[in-house]
Amino acid sequence: MVSLLFLLITLVSIATSTPTNFIKSSCSTTQYPTLCVESLSVYASKIQQDPHQLVQTALSLSLNRTQTTKAFVRKCKYFKNLKPRVYAAIHDCVEVISDGVDRLGSSLNELKLCKINGQDFNWHISNVETWVSSALTDGSTCSDGFGGKALDGRIKTSIRSRMVDVAKVTSNALALINQYAANH
Ligand SMILES: *[C@@H]1O[C@H](CO)[C@@H](O)[C@H](O)[C@H]1NC(C)=O
Repeated sequence: MVSLLFLLITLVSIATSTPTNFIKSSCSTTQYPTLCVESLSVYASKIQQDPHQLVQTALSLSLNRTQTTKAFVRKCKYFKNLKPRVYAAIHDCVEVISDGVDRLGSSLNELKLCKINGQDFNWHISNVETWVSSALTDGSTCSDGFGGKALDGRIKTSIRSRMVDVAKVTSNALALINQYAANH
């Protein structure tokens, strides 16, 4: 009985990774600290107390979520009986998200150069800051496009909520990047 309880406790503690103080304090400067802590704590053992690893994980998370959203929005194009302007709005949104995926992918590569090529840290990190912030701005353009009357009902709601989710994760990544740049 005791060993069963022990096993249970062990399993629960594995499943719910405790956020470290490092992650919590880094996330406290972001706009969505709870989301930040929740999404990064899963990678706590990888992040440890390494600011570079923290930023790299946050950016990779943003890229992955953006890719997933792109796949989702692209699928929406194939719903039956879409009005042409609805189809067009979704199509434009996919284009915007694709650009975002490219920018975030380049940012992730550029971020790696910050570490490999430390001499040019300022140059590399400022590129990262620029590209991630344009990915964020462009994403919100797409989200705004769905704010009007072009789309209605479930498609609009589900695309919008995914765009908002991606924007939050990306906004948090950008805040952590800015913090990393400032503290370097
Ligand atoms: C993002 O996806 C890549 C490729 O699937 C994976 O290797 C990486 O661990 C993911 N990043 C995060 C933070 O989950």
